[in-house]
This record gives sequence, C-alpha cells and structure tokens, in this order.
Amino acid sequence: MNLVVSDFEENVRKALGQPQNQGEMTDADSVGTVGSPDCGDMLRMWLKFTEKDGKKVIDRATFQSFGCQTAIAVASMATELLKGKTIEQARALSAQELSGDLGAIPPMKIHCGQLVEGALRHALDGGAVETKSAVPTLSDEMKQPAGKVKINFLPPS
Ligand code: FES
Repeated sequence: MNLVVSDFEENVRKALGQPQNQGEMTDADSVGTVGSPDCGDMLRMWLKFTEKDGKKVIDRATFQSFGCQTAIAVASMATELLKGKTIEQARALSAQELSGDLGAIPPMKIHCGQLVEGALRHALDGGAVETKSAVPTLSDEMKQPAGKVKINFLPPS
C-alpha cells in the first residue's frame, strides 16, 4: 500500500525532531493553560515580555504539552514566531498563522492548533503571573487529585 504523506505531516515530523522552546520558563511574566474538549489534551504557554522602541513585546515564549504531535509542532513554531510581537499582534494570530512554515493545518487537526492559540490568548489575557513555586507544571497538576486542577477548556470546535 502506498501512503501519501502531506507536506504538513512531513513538516510536523521534521519539527518534532528538534522542537523549539519546550519546557517551563521559571522567570515568566504570564502563563496560559488550556485543555481541549475535543481530545482531552493540554497545553501550557509561558511568556516573557520586554520593551522595544517604547512598546511591550514578547521577548521569549516556551511551552509544555500533554498533547499530540501536531500541537507540539505548532507550539514549537508559534513560540518562535511570537518573538518580538506586541500583545496586539500576538492576539491577532490565528491557529493557522501560528503554524507558520508547517503549512496549513488540516481540518481534522485544527483543534490541535487551537490548543496553542488558546494557551497563547490565555497568557496574553494575563493567564496567571507566576513565580517558579507559585504555578505547578502540567506534570505537577496531573499528579494532583481531581478538583485541584485549574484548566481552561476551549469552546468545542
Ligand atoms: Fe489533541 Fe491534537 S489530538 S491536541
């Protein structure tokens, strides 16, 4: 049987070989966490801001994911794309735009991109201002008993 692998899938596969900006940011200014009602996956994004030409811009972005490969690849791409963006510019980016050079996200995978978009928006909305000890990692949260986990669920797509 001949399998046809789309450019998007091939680009995701390559991105997973060297994901960028993965992991907790201990000095972040904001963090956003969302869960997908479609698949139950979760993604958290940390943002660090700086000032450039009198404007507040994103200096760095990192992520942690309990998600599929598409979500990880899009988050990897998005955290690179976000560098230097103002809050307004970042807020205007759709899931498709956040996927950058990965190409257009197929319809079946759009909720994976929306998980990244949702975590970004939550962080841009203030999410939670964290210090290293104040906000547990996704891994910490998964270990906590049910009821203590605070996750924002995206509206169903
Ligand atoms: Fe859940 Fe992709 S299948 S984020």
